[in-house]
Amino acid sequence: MTSSFRITLLPGDGIGPEITAVTRQLLDAVSRQHGFELLYDEQPMGGAAIDATGEPLPASTLEACRASDAVLLAAIGSPQYDCLPREQRPETGLLGLRAGLGLFANLRPVKIIPALIEASTLKREVIEGVDLLVVRELTGGVYFGTPKGRVESEGRVRAFNTMAYFDDEIDRIAKVGFDLAQQRSGRLCSVDKANVLDVSQLWRDRVEALHASSYPGVELSHMYVDNAAMQLVRNPRQFDVLLTSNLFGDILSDEAAMLSGSIGMLPSASLGASGPGLFEPIHGSAPDIAGQDKANPMAMVLSAAMLLRIGLQQEAAAAALEAAVDRVLAAGFRTGDLMAEGCTQLGCRAMGDQLLAALEGVPATA
Ligand code: IPM
Ligand code: MG
Repeated sequence: MTSSFRITLLPGDGIGPEITAVTRQLLDAVSRQHGFELLYDEQPMGGAAIDATGEPLPASTLEACRASDAVLLAAIGSPQYDCLPREQRPETGLLGLRAGLGLFANLRPVKIIPALIEASTLKREVIEGVDLLVVRELTGGVYFGTPKGRVESEGRVRAFNTMAYFDDEIDRIAKVGFDLAQQRSGRLCSVDKANVLDVSQLWRDRVEALHASSYPGVELSHMYVDNAAMQLVRNPRQFDVLLTSNLFGDILSDEAAMLSGSIGMLPSASLGASGPGLFEPIHGSAPDIAGQDKANPMAMVLSAAMLLRIGLQQEAAAAALEAAVDRVLAAGFRTGDLMAEGCTQLGCRAMGDQLLAALEGVPATA
């Protein structure tokens, strides 16, 4: 019997629908090749959902996600929604989706693709061989802490958020970090601001306790977040797994993305204790190039590969998608964000066609 899996597809906003179309075409081909079936359920999310229903995350979308085997999201957000009250903004929908599915662990791998070394703003000798993983806590910290708000009194306005973690929230994300470090090179660097913040001191205490009790074989180090930001561009090869809180991971993962040349290349996986995972590129919806067939679909294709590997345990299909991306880049095809001298520039759809040809083993032609 052919196994079949239910995928909730969330094309979202901006370039989202364009990169989703390309990715879906590739998923169809790779699932056919590897003998399983994907059933898609496309749902509105973000600005697209605000336009259709008035809310960024309709209950029906969250329900569909819960009922599926994995969720694939393109990107959400657009400046036209920035003036809406916070609870109606696209980003609030994304936070609601993460919380609603219990996705506390966000994995953001940054691996240098040799063909793209010249596309980075950093020197070859700094980035060559970089292969790191940001493990970001995703459903706590200052993104979700209370109290929060904005108050006016005596002629002044004050706005505030709360950066807070419970011990067990730190333990469960640290466990994910240690487990992944064990599967990789055995090194974990925990990022905090324990020299200033109480919440970071608790973070450090819990990570140390877990290390002593359960992971003595992992080489653990601690780094203040400001230093980590500097070390990422000074000597990124020193890192294997970086364990971070929600806000620090948000910032450091964008920085780490630039090591790879373009934020248009990086996938991510968000996982909970059980239930479907959410797979999405780490880039945004790029409203400036939306609808112009200029977007780089590769981060979403690589997110689909993570979905196949982690979400559906289809390792061979995942590896085939990744190999197709490598082949197309090695053949000199580039989207605008990666363009370099001597390469062939393609739009989003044409890049999709090349990826499909590479997947199906057709020799590349310019
Ligand atoms: C990310 C994004 C989101 C975040 C936004 C869109 C809410 O920047 O996934 O990194 O801050 O988590
Ligand atoms: Mg971010």
